[in-house]
Amino acid sequence: MCSNIWGELGVGSRSFFITSNLPGSWMVKLGSDGRGRGGGSRSNVGDHHHQGSSSIVVMANLVNDVVANLPVWDGTLKQTVQQLASQDTGSLIQQLGSTAISSFTELPNGERWKIVSGSAFGWFYLTARPGVLKGALDSYVLAPLQFLVDGALGRRNWKRTDFLVDERLGEGSFGTVYAGFVLPRKLATDQDDDEFGRRGRRIEEYNDYKSFDKVILKKVKVGVQGADECGEMEEWFNYRMCRAAPDTCAKYLGSFRADATRGQFTQGGKWLVWKYEGDSTLLDFMKQRNFPENLEMPLFGRTLKSKDQLQRHSLIIKQIMRQIISSLNKMHATGIVHRDVKPSNLVVTNKGKLKFIDFGAATDLRVGKNFVPERGMLDPDYCPPELYVLPEETPNPPPAPVAAALSPFIWQFNSPDLFDMYSAGVILLQMACSGLRTPIGLQLFKKEIAEVGYDLNKWRGITKVRTNFEVLDLDGGAGWNLVTKLICERGLLRRGRLSAAAALRHPYFLLGGDQAASVLSKLTLSR
Ligand SMILES: Nc1ncnc2c1ncn2[C@@H]1O[C@H](COP(=O)(O)OP(=O)(O)OP(=O)(O)O)[C@@H](O)[C@H]1O
Ligand SMILES: [Mg+2]
Repeated sequence: MCSNIWGELGVGSRSFFITSNLPGSWMVKLGSDGRGRGGGSRSNVGDHHHQGSSSIVVMANLVNDVVANLPVWDGTLKQTVQQLASQDTGSLIQQLGSTAISSFTELPNGERWKIVSGSAFGWFYLTARPGVLKGALDSYVLAPLQFLVDGALGRRNWKRTDFLVDERLGEGSFGTVYAGFVLPRKLATDQDDDEFGRRGRRIEEYNDYKSFDKVILKKVKVGVQGADECGEMEEWFNYRMCRAAPDTCAKYLGSFRADATRGQFTQGGKWLVWKYEGDSTLLDFMKQRNFPENLEMPLFGRTLKSKDQLQRHSLIIKQIMRQIISSLNKMHATGIVHRDVKPSNLVVTNKGKLKFIDFGAATDLRVGKNFVPERGMLDPDYCPPELYVLPEETPNPPPAPVAAALSPFIWQFNSPDLFDMYSAGVILLQMACSGLRTPIGLQLFKKEIAEVGYDLNKWRGITKVRTNFEVLDLDGGAGWNLVTKLICERGLLRRGRLSAAAALRHPYFLLGGDQAASVLSKLTLSR
């Protein structure tokens, strides 16, 4: 660790130079007009340090110095601040507290109420979803800090020659997704370009490539209108999610622009990079005939040996839903609505954790982006009837700071998070009912549910999808009750669907604890 760090704090025309000669021993020198440097008002905090004082005392001395050196200063206030600064920490806080309380109690009744109600409103406004205070902290402190730390650690210095591109995994309107590998540093030299020519490096040319770190590479399409903005947006959301709720989404590693046209790379094209989280998505598991049993090992690390297969299925599906809704709860708490919640956007890790990917259609009301997106970006199979997170008549997004200031009101009136909850409901219904796991079954469901006005109970009576509902009917129909409160219209007040937090309090999950315990106690667990 550096033992002599100089920092400079500018205050008006004066500067304070702070140096740390030894860890924990801070010396504060006051500069520019000479009075501070070595003069009578200089405070050598080292002395106080030896008396066992803390960083608050360092601050107090700094305040004292500022007060002593400012020419225009109200006499009484100056005296009070100096007095306060000369106290030890405990009595300083005590004095401040009692001064505040006595000033407050001396106020007339009306004034006191104004202060109390103003503070209560302020607190509610700053902390209500999506959290103006947390958002400001994230934008103005955490994001720049992450940028600096990543830069210092070399995490943002990716270049084209660091990667080997492997098989193509998917293609959306704005990007193509590949699996890939990070070349070890000793192999990632730019000179290799001459050797490989325009075709670029090929994975087969490296015998031991499987030992390299595996990544996901998303190539943002070049020359497609809106693709670049989409890439920027996806990057922004990934950094934001990785700061706010890292366990809910694939780890984002950064981006780079290709410096030359070689193989899959096009000069100037942007690439986004993620950690490779797992070989399969929830959709891959759902397509197999033995779903949900195929997720038993990944989720529980063991086979739940029970005679009652139905209860095993119910436990597995509940565990998946609990993970999805808990992640959505965290995501929504940060003000982000994913808007593309579906089985193919949930990667199952080797440790049985479901992680969200694909934030290309996400929205954050605080940044005023993506309020009313292109319809083409939404997947009709999982999209709620209202189609948008905000009504279509919502005016164009204001600039970011204004959007941030308005966001608590917009959130309260529109509950945009309920958009994702409909999609979560469709996933639950699909997992429980095999007939809905085929594209044809899902299409039919979409048509039928619209015909009955998004009333799931009515749909159950009329559906031609060949399926049964026994998993949802267990425990007095707790699962069915939950799914009817997710797959529904939002109603006049726009709140007629459960939020993630409310869904987690639903008996389906609360009963789960008791049920899981009782079922597990009857099971023989085997590896
Ligand atoms: N971090 C990751 N770890 C493992 N696999 C991933 C990861 N990210 C993406 N994938 C795989 O790549 C596929 C496509 O990724 P993604 O959903 O981000 O792209 P997309 O262009 O939106 O494709 P689509 O429109 O088909 O969903 C996923 O379905 C998944 O199989
Ligand atoms: Mg996707």
